[in-house]
Amino acid sequence: MSVHNSIQTGKEITVTIDGKRCKSTFGKTILEIARENGIYVPTMCYLSKVQPIGSCRMCVVEVEGVEGMILSCQEKATDGAVIRTNNETIQQERQNIMKLYNVNHPLECGVCDKSGECDLQNKTMEFGLEAQGFTARDQHRPVENWGHVSYDPALCIMCEKCVRVSTEITGDEALKVKFGGYGSTIVNTKQEKNYASLGEAAAVCPVGALVSTDFKYTANAWELTKIPSACPHCGGGCQMYYEVKNDRIYRVTNTFEFSNLCGAGRYAFDYANENVNKEKAAFDKAVEAFKDAQSVIFSSQISNEEALLLQKLKEKFGFRLVSHEARAYQKFMQAYSSITGKSLYNGTLKALSASKAVIVMGTKINDDAPTVKYHINMASKWHRARVIYMHPLEDTEVQNIVTQFVKYEAGSEEGVAALLAETLLKEAELPKGIREFLDALDIGNLSAESNVGEEELETLKRALLKKSGFSLVVGPDLYMHPRAEHIARLIALLEQYAGFNVICIPPAGNAMGISLICDLDDEVEGRSVGYNAPADFTLSALGGGDLDMPAMNQQEGTLTTLDKRVVPMNVALPYGGYVLNDIANALGMDAEYTIEYTAQLPEEQGYMAIAFDALPDYFDSVGNEYRGYLLKPQKVSVKRAFEEVEELEGFDGPVIYNCNPTEQFSAFTAKSRLLKDEAVLLGSRQFAAATKLQDGESITYTLDGVKFDRVFKIDTSMKGTIALNPVFDRGLSGALLSSYRFSRLDFERAGK
Ligand code: SF4
Ligand code: SF4
Ligand code: FES
Repeated sequence: MSVHNSIQTGKEITVTIDGKRCKSTFGKTILEIARENGIYVPTMCYLSKVQPIGSCRMCVVEVEGVEGMILSCQEKATDGAVIRTNNETIQQERQNIMKLYNVNHPLECGVCDKSGECDLQNKTMEFGLEAQGFTARDQHRPVENWGHVSYDPALCIMCEKCVRVSTEITGDEALKVKFGGYGSTIVNTKQEKNYASLGEAAAVCPVGALVSTDFKYTANAWELTKIPSACPHCGGGCQMYYEVKNDRIYRVTNTFEFSNLCGAGRYAFDYANENVNKEKAAFDKAVEAFKDAQSVIFSSQISNEEALLLQKLKEKFGFRLVSHEARAYQKFMQAYSSITGKSLYNGTLKALSASKAVIVMGTKINDDAPTVKYHINMASKWHRARVIYMHPLEDTEVQNIVTQFVKYEAGSEEGVAALLAETLLKEAELPKGIREFLDALDIGNLSAESNVGEEELETLKRALLKKSGFSLVVGPDLYMHPRAEHIARLIALLEQYAGFNVICIPPAGNAMGISLICDLDDEVEGRSVGYNAPADFTLSALGGGDLDMPAMNQQEGTLTTLDKRVVPMNVALPYGGYVLNDIANALGMDAEYTIEYTAQLPEEQGYMAIAFDALPDYFDSVGNEYRGYLLKPQKVSVKRAFEEVEELEGFDGPVIYNCNPTEQFSAFTAKSRLLKDEAVLLGSRQFAAATKLQDGESITYTLDGVKFDRVFKIDTSMKGTIALNPVFDRGLSGALLSSYRFSRLDFERAGK
């Protein structure tokens, strides 16, 4: 959906384009209406997902009664307008534009990485430019290597799409235009950061100026098979294509006009479980292990269909089914639903990007859910949204969009949620019990405990003075909190009574799907089978377990995304071993392929009885999304049970926070050759002083029974006494960190 569509004002209009009567709504541009009606208008600088750039003039049209040519990408259509998108004058104008573009741009396409998918090449053909009429003095401008992407100024046509994406979408704001006539160029102002998200800027580049450094010169675009799929790394389930040749993924691309990918989606594609054969003896042992199991434990890197298979096996064999993160999320969402009366939160990404104010709480958003951060950034850029970021840790990566940082004490989330509810529902009409509960809160005490002052809350409230368009994004810090369910009920009040668009970010991979499909238990008991989780018998897509399993890019099935959509994933790479469905069949189930379960996903949880092969997977010409289907919210019974907010146990001294580096999510992204992140304990100078740790010192600590040997590093951009502990490198045990994300650091120095 384009930016302009999202803010259109709705009054019906009729315009005539090239003799065709087109009905639309006021607020849309001529180009949008033309596209809605399948009328082609050439463009070079237009990109649906950002605001019109207006730099190329290719989209010129004539409107009856208006003198001269106008830019159809910028001009809103008026009722009754008669528009002509092509005639000799317009054609001449476009040809001249193409001639100018080709000045300085070498047309030796045979050596260009973009050849075969280049807009300039295509339009040069389209407008029949056989000769180069203009020339300009050659300038020597060497190719710049920016890490994940390379920039060739000699090929750059200065359309500015990359700059807009870096500013309006990903929000890293690294790319800028350096003006200078024919010497104009794009500069990367944050080269030292090597943002993987710049892959998104390269994706929109219409020519070969900005390309993936890794992919460059490895394959021609036309040799690659595009396999549509969805990214499994976080709860985003973003749209993607695996581009494959000879059973190798060369790159990941996306429908960049309308959708986005973060660096993990784009670069962490090489995690397949390769060279696996069918080992009958190991398979038989797996079948026996399931028959014998008292518990099955699994991580969130599985499809909806596999989750359903495990649920069916649970029903048949009676074992416990454990997935810690998904269980925490399930309990949180059940408590949440007990207030709203609906099985799902009401928030959507589209509403988030259209917000005028956004509150973020309980998540390090840039790292937990990049696509959500992008949508907050869009709200900030397009609607000047106030962004209130509530967290114990300041995050420099969101500083540019945050208008108010509210720092609360680690552990005080329940109090903060109560303060938020009390502040934002002061004037709301509430059921008597809720009003009494809020009135009885000891605000002074909650403020003191959480360190959130009443003045800060008043400032926050002022950001919401407009009557609508508020979003609240909450995340995994809350789900693993000892008081998670009460926090969920407090947060749900804001959806129910304050008109907030609320998104509760799933804590990992397909945790949302698992939480809806499986009847989960809290703890493992007795003999266990693990699926991507260590157990007495372990099935592993990472290799090294008792039986190998396919990785997510070797499977077909569906994912449930944080936008509440059920989206299809297709097989990118072959897999030679056994899959969960084979084990299930040996245990008495009967399905030739795992995807036979797609149509059986639980309707009582909002899924639809649609076969996998019938699921659509595309965006239409104006960006409406037809990927799978949207979950239907189900009615659940309301139970407004509020309790006293518990006194928190303070976190004095050095604290660690379990959080992965940007665009690392799991042992699967950790396998990626292109995303190289050091798994170190990262803290501020203040943290180093408090712990007397030296930069580079090795220490050991244990969390949730998992032992960490880490090097400590000082990050000068960090503040305070909370350090970041990544878990993505922990192979199968990383996903098992199920406790509250903050904990006191109790460590031993190496060698002691
Ligand atoms: S690098 Fe590509 S996207 Fe950026 S201005 Fe140049 S041509 Fe346009
Ligand atoms: S990791 Fe998440 S945000 Fe990034 S592309 Fe994949 S699903 Fe989207
Ligand atoms: S597409 Fe309209 S000015 Fe470039």
